[in-house]
Amino acid sequence: MLNKFPKDFLWGGSTSAYQFEGGWNSDGKGPSTQDVRTNIPEGTTDFKVASDHYHNWKEDVDLMAEMGFKSYRFSISWSRILPKGYGEINEKGVEFYNNLINYLLEKNIEPIITMYHFDLPNALEEKGGWLNRDIISYFENYSKVLFERFGDRVKKWLTINEQNVMIIFGEVVGISFGDKENRLKNTYQVNHHMMMASAKAMIACHEMIKDAKIGPAPNINAIYPNSNHPEDQIAAFNMSVFRNWFYLDCYVKGIYNPLVIKYLEKNNAMFSIEEGDLNTLKHAKPDFIAFNYYSSATAAISQEDDDFNELTNQQKLRSIVGVYKQIKNPNLQKTEFGWEIDPVGLRSTLREIYDRYNLPLLITENGIGGYDELIDGQVNDDYRINYYEKHIEQMLLAINDGVELMGYNPWSAIDLVSTHEGIKKRYGFVYVDRTDDDIKECKRYRKKSFFWYKEFIKNTK
Ligand code: BG6
Repeated sequence: MLNKFPKDFLWGGSTSAYQFEGGWNSDGKGPSTQDVRTNIPEGTTDFKVASDHYHNWKEDVDLMAEMGFKSYRFSISWSRILPKGYGEINEKGVEFYNNLINYLLEKNIEPIITMYHFDLPNALEEKGGWLNRDIISYFENYSKVLFERFGDRVKKWLTINEQNVMIIFGEVVGISFGDKENRLKNTYQVNHHMMMASAKAMIACHEMIKDAKIGPAPNINAIYPNSNHPEDQIAAFNMSVFRNWFYLDCYVKGIYNPLVIKYLEKNNAMFSIEEGDLNTLKHAKPDFIAFNYYSSATAAISQEDDDFNELTNQQKLRSIVGVYKQIKNPNLQKTEFGWEIDPVGLRSTLREIYDRYNLPLLITENGIGGYDELIDGQVNDDYRINYYEKHIEQMLLAINDGVELMGYNPWSAIDLVSTHEGIKKRYGFVYVDRTDDDIKECKRYRKKSFFWYKEFIKNTK
């Protein structure tokens, strides 16, 4: 018989500040890079109002409680707490999160906080952003403010959301890396600063909150070889390292995977590491690994003289000449937005991460973006229910395989604005009534998946 989900399993949902909160300049908040972004794709909304959670937070928590959430994973807007990224604290910002945290706890929902989810204070971006090494101490200082103000009640922390996604295709999610000429080196320099920032925050967390747990939150997925051609196996291994293990090896073991380092050296793009950095990375130990999973990927061999013209723009972004190229998997169905759907890939991913690092795992994102329609106050999103059922089934199989899984916080608890495809691409259990060009009143409606999740959590207790 299959094992059941553990009793204290964290069934919940997930959001991020800039995609959900709105109130971009309310009550002393400083602008973030996402607020001042000019490369918003045509036909999609900016992030200034988003789902207006800033003014609806209580109703939103009530909806989560009604679904029976045990946890809620959300991010804190750095520039709401520190408008310039450093210096004076915005007490009104602290108050907003205090109210949210207290109300969640009152409803028996455990807050899981991401410290940084794609929205750097713009004042820090003007100082060079993640490319300027000073960012490490700015982040460390910010993390200490969070631990000091919220650490008495918040016991689960995530440092940086999807660092690997920012490094692999940062522009899509609004991250920049300085001049084009040194693009490769800059990108990995940014990565090193993020690694150091995350490490310092983990160390501070363990020092400041004795009973807290902290971990990273990359986007990890299983990589399949395109065929049984031996070279495709090399390609799949390459992609797994460049996309997944390079990040987790550093977070967990404090080492930089040699495959990527060799590639950077060969391309004259090795980033600088200062004395003591490697020690810091080794010293910082996550208590668990949080990760986001949407899909698997398939890799084929790429030769040095490969022409990538046959690839789609997304595949080009995810491929490296001479290392691997990501290609389509004909065995998988796709979402309305072209993302491959692979529940079994989630089981493989859980197994692989656990096998490699032996730390408890927490799913902090998983979900399906689609066009939902509000008809007579109702949204029939059977396709979402089907997606969740299939993924949850694979989670249970993974638990039965011996994987230690702490919880499931799908994306997203409530509709929010997608990173680059607007609010028309919806993810939530709750519909937010607005469009990309009409903010309306952002009224909330329970979707069919809301009632399904509520029943599911109740019966899985
Ligand atoms: C993850 C991010 O990459 O995927 C979220 O952490 C994002 O911020 C989610 O919204 C879904 O991606 P998208 O591009 O559809 O919004």
